[in-house]
Amino acid sequence: MHRRQTVLGIESSCDDTGAAVVVHAPGSAPQILSNIVAAQTELHAAFGGVVPEIAARAHAEKLDLAVEDALTAAGITLTDLDAIAVTAGPGLIGGVLSGVMLAKGLAVATGKPLIGVNHLAGHALTPRLTDGLAFPYLMLLVSGGHCQFLRVDGADAFTRLGGTIDDAPGEAFDKTAKLLGLPQPGGPAVQAEAEAGDPARFAFPRPLLDRPGCDLSFSGLKTALMRARDAVVADKGGLTRQDRADLCAGFQAAVADVLTEKSRRALARCPDITGFAVAGGVAANTVLRGQLMALAGDLPFVAPPLALCTDNAAMIAGLGYRLWESGLRHDLSLDAYPMTEP
Ligand code: KG4
Ligand code: ZN
Repeated sequence: MHRRQTVLGIESSCDDTGAAVVVHAPGSAPQILSNIVAAQTELHAAFGGVVPEIAARAHAEKLDLAVEDALTAAGITLTDLDAIAVTAGPGLIGGVLSGVMLAKGLAVATGKPLIGVNHLAGHALTPRLTDGLAFPYLMLLVSGGHCQFLRVDGADAFTRLGGTIDDAPGEAFDKTAKLLGLPQPGGPAVQAEAEAGDPARFAFPRPLLDRPGCDLSFSGLKTALMRARDAVVADKGGLTRQDRADLCAGFQAAVADVLTEKSRRALARCPDITGFAVAGGVAANTVLRGQLMALAGDLPFVAPPLALCTDNAAMIAGLGYRLWESGLRHDLSLDAYPMTEP
């Protein structure tokens, strides 16, 4: 590819409707011209989690508007595009289908190439988009839906070193917030509350540290938190502000400790890497970030800006371009898929 290439990205695999325009010019870093995200947080708030049917309907309603906004913000029209990249999975199938159908329609209407992208691979390649991190690197993906260690050797070369065997850590933060009467999304609320807390007051478990390898588990922590809360309530008839802060601090410390120890093991398995990167909403947690940065030591530690750590379409456009450059093309038989790892 010898000239400037402009790629539209479309993302609709969970509860964020995204459209973005990314430009790649030879010899310079990729440029994100626009990155529109329409979050559905309010639509799902009353249900304490993402409702797939509601998400799918909202994506169907919002996707074309998001694309229009992304093109307008980038100052271009459909005819200026060189390719269209879309999340083909994994994710909630109704939403993924909405995105794939729109991308196919746009590809047919404009005659532009269509590239289906794996959502997790999009997250995993983000450090290349934002920081130009060279292969190979280790990626810890921690969000409300994902938790895994990936060794990244190329745009379509990943090795999964381990991951959660039950809940994702963001899910555990969200449930903790719910159990303590804090607002959703739970992660930022628990972090804020934990600032005034004593992480040592409650002895929360550090699941799976006794087992070799990089797998993680968070469902037991959630149960431990519920038991600790119930014990305080049974003893005193309710929770004080300090009790809540101590519970949050203890829970957060347990999550950060297990992620740090498993990261240490994953890093030990990759002696030749150029850096250690994190992505996903939970990577916003300052205690976790601090511990992981300290762990990385002299190895470059890359934490992309939050808007590119959480679900977004710029990462889909960025990866779509790389795959297109290496010859990948899809046609109208491109399938949306609910599961599978990169
Ligand atoms: O990546 P993301 O936006 O969506 C997916 O799950 O794909 O991640 C959202 C998750 C939520 O569970 C939220 O509670 C968590 O990231 N989160 C945090 C923090 N900020 C967001 N968890 C811990 N500490 C935070 N500061
Ligand atoms: Zn995601």
